[in-house]
This record gives sequence, C-alpha cells and structure tokens, in this order.
Amino acid sequence: MALAQGRGLKHSLIGRSVSIAMAVILGGLGPFVFPISKPAVAQSAGRYDPMAPRRGRAEPKIEVPLNTEFGGLPDTPGVEDVYYTCSGCHSLAIVKQQRLTDARWDYTLRWMIEVQKMPEPDGGTKQRILDYLKRHFSSER
Ligand code: HEC
Repeated sequence: MALAQGRGLKHSLIGRSVSIAMAVILGGLGPFVFPISKPAVAQSAGRYDPMAPRRGRAEPKIEVPLNTEFGGLPDTPGVEDVYYTCSGCHSLAIVKQQRLTDARWDYTLRWMIEVQKMPEPDGGTKQRILDYLKRHFSSER
C-alpha cells in the first residue's frame, strides 16, 4: 500500500515536471506563435526609433555635474560640507541613494546627531547641508 502510494507520488511528480516543462516551452514560443500587438512606443516617421528621445516628460531635469573630488556628489554649494560631514561613518552611497521628503531629511539629520552621535555642525553649515540634501536627494522635486 505504502509502496503503491509512493509510486503514485513519483508519477504525479513526473507528470507535474512534464507539464511545467511544456508550459515553459509553450510560454517561450508564445510570442512567436501568437504575436503580441506592438507596444505604444516613441514613433519617428512612423517607425520605431530606439534612439529617439522619450517624450511626455513635463520638465527635463537639469543635469548637475558630479564632483569627483567629493565622492561624485552633485557639484553645487554645500557639496564640501556634505562630503566631510557625512562620509566619516558610512559610504556616501547611503546618502545618494535616498529620495526622502524634506521633513524626513530634517529628521534624518537630527537622528544622525542625536542617536548616531555625529558631531553637530554649526548653524550655517547645518543649513547648507540640509539645503543640499533636499536639493538633490528629495522625493519632492
Ligand atoms: C557618527 C557617525 C555618522 C555620521 C557622521 C553620519 N552618519 Fe548617517 N548613519 C550612521 C549610522 C551608524 C547609520 C546606520 C544606522 C542603522 O542602519 O541602524 C547611518 C545611516 C544613515 C542613513 C540611512 C538611514 C536609513 O533609513 O537607513 C542615511 C540617509 C544617513 N545615514 C545620512 C547621513 C548624512 C546625510 C550624514 C551627514 C550629514 C550622515 N549620515 C553622517 C552614522 C553616521
């Protein structure tokens, strides 16, 4: 009895692998057998041009040059303050990858000072750092 059940299980496993394999094969063939309608793409003279600029962006983002001397941070006022203040304990990548709200940046800086024991910058420097972080790594602009 137990043997028969074991065999049944084995067969159903084989059966399942075969149907998975078929699904993979058919799935792979799908786009050829059933051509999917073309996606809406940038058109140029009626043809798809992969090099054509993307359209429909409301405002092009202004490209800011990166300062290689200061960890590849965007080169605007405050870059030096952020570089020296924030790279002491961790990589600047942790800063650059953020997209926080302005309020969240205020909170994060306070958290670095109060919990992580970052030496508190003087008022002017702190403002420059916050302006800089909000200018470049904000979710609000
Ligand atoms: C005294 C050390 C220290 C300094 C200086 C410091 N940090 Fe941090 N920071 C930390 C530590 C420790 C963590 C990791 C905390 C954790 O994940 O528990 C961290 C994490 C972060 C994070 C990730 C937060 C998250 O939600 O995971 C951000 C963003 C950040 N720091 C920004 C900054 C900025 C901006 C500065 C410069 C103004 C700065 N840090 C300076 C210690 C520091």
